[in-house]
Amino acid sequence: MDEKFTGKVAIIGLGYIGLPTAVALATRGIDVIGVDLNPSIVQAVSRGEVPFAEPDLAVAVSGAVAMGRLVATTEVPEADAYIIAVPTPFTAERTADLSYVESASRQIAPKLRRGAVVVLESTSPPGTTDKVKGWIGEMRPDLKLPHDTEPQPDIHLVHCPERVLPGRIMIEMITNDRIIGGITPRCAQKAAAIYRVFAQGEILLTDAASAEMAKLVENAYRDVNIAFANEISLISEYLHIDVWEVIRLANRHPRVNILSPGPGVGGHCIPVDPWFIVAAAPELSPLLKTAREVNDGRPNHVAEQVIAKAQRFRAPSIACLGLTFKANVDDIRESPAVEVVSLIAKGLPDVEISACDPYVSELPPLLGSYENLRLKNAVQAVDEADIVVLLVEHEPFKAMRHTRLGGKVVYDTRGVWR
Ligand SMILES: NC(=O)c1ccc[n+]([C@@H]2O[C@H](COP(=O)([O-])OP(=O)(O)OC[C@H]3O[C@@H](n4cnc5c(N)ncnc54)[C@H](O)[C@@H]3O)[C@@H](O)[C@H]2O)c1
Repeated sequence: MDEKFTGKVAIIGLGYIGLPTAVALATRGIDVIGVDLNPSIVQAVSRGEVPFAEPDLAVAVSGAVAMGRLVATTEVPEADAYIIAVPTPFTAERTADLSYVESASRQIAPKLRRGAVVVLESTSPPGTTDKVKGWIGEMRPDLKLPHDTEPQPDIHLVHCPERVLPGRIMIEMITNDRIIGGITPRCAQKAAAIYRVFAQGEILLTDAASAEMAKLVENAYRDVNIAFANEISLISEYLHIDVWEVIRLANRHPRVNILSPGPGVGGHCIPVDPWFIVAAAPELSPLLKTAREVNDGRPNHVAEQVIAKAQRFRAPSIACLGLTFKANVDDIRESPAVEVVSLIAKGLPDVEISACDPYVSELPPLLGSYENLRLKNAVQAVDEADIVVLLVEHEPFKAMRHTRLGGKVVYDTRGVWR
């Protein structure tokens, strides 16, 4: 019979992944201690508030805090299980920066009691869960670490990658299938009991390195397919063919499903994770590397097109709609839209440019220094503009009346106003 988990869980990192995981457990009766280095995040969560926008998360956090099931702190406590959900960005050399994971592992190590489960949820290159074991082992030589020849270790260590879609995190966290990769099969079984508390999807047990690689491969798959769409878009534009019509027709083939082109790939998963594979096997990953380069080249291409359109006017005004990395979220990390706006503002220093986004209340740092750039309400900006550039398909932009766009040069990078 499946084991039942009833212990106390500490979640290290209360960001887009850690906080929803904390409430998924807390609202199902598990005592959860959320840990974050950032005191303002800890204070917000302690008040039952959410420091970022994610549908349905606010009500779940306030409920979990009010029930006394979720508390937040800056100090790692003693617990029965630890879930590490800290950032794994890449370095200037495009290798994984594991410093956050290392420091979280070293903070957990002194608190570990026999029987504890340690889950690495942060997206990580193959071999990282083994490194976590090494960091813990350095600090706790008294503990029997999991090993092929150690049937009864003192701690259980797994990688459980997260694959939720921002904007749907609260649904997908519950319904998605979960991969749990253990240092040993016993580790995976122990950790599965924690995820069974809330996961309704299937729980797939495997080894740690396969789990690490599976997560990276998922995002590399998306990246390569988006790069395909972007390359088709580039070629179609060159040949004066409507790419959206081409894709609509091609997708009527029963085994073809081309994704949508766009101004680039953002967020801190898809543009980052494929590099972890490339770094692990550079000679063997030319396709993944090229896909990254194709997608990274998109903001420049979009900005060049807008700058070329602006040459038709004597003193044009340009409205850029959307700054976030995807629709209906407030996340601007690695956002290609921000890069496009920056390139246009830089390329047209004498032109009035408006940036509009219902989810962004102040200009991101990259855009703060342009004197020709203002953050504006979309309706006003569009009414005043000669050129309208759609960069993110937020619902209010999709719903914008076509009459409002009449007589303007429209560059719709998302194909929603066709
Ligand atoms: N955001 C997503 O949609 C998504 C999806 C799948 C996987 N992931 C992966 O999940 C991981 C976390 O991503 P995120 O989006 O939640 O990041 P985030 O930046 O939103 O949150 C991370 C939090 O960790 C805190 N932190 C960093 N080091 C810490 C430490 N030593 N102790 C305590 N707190 C610490 C930070 O202050 C921050 O609040 C990353 O590896 C990411 O690639 C993210």
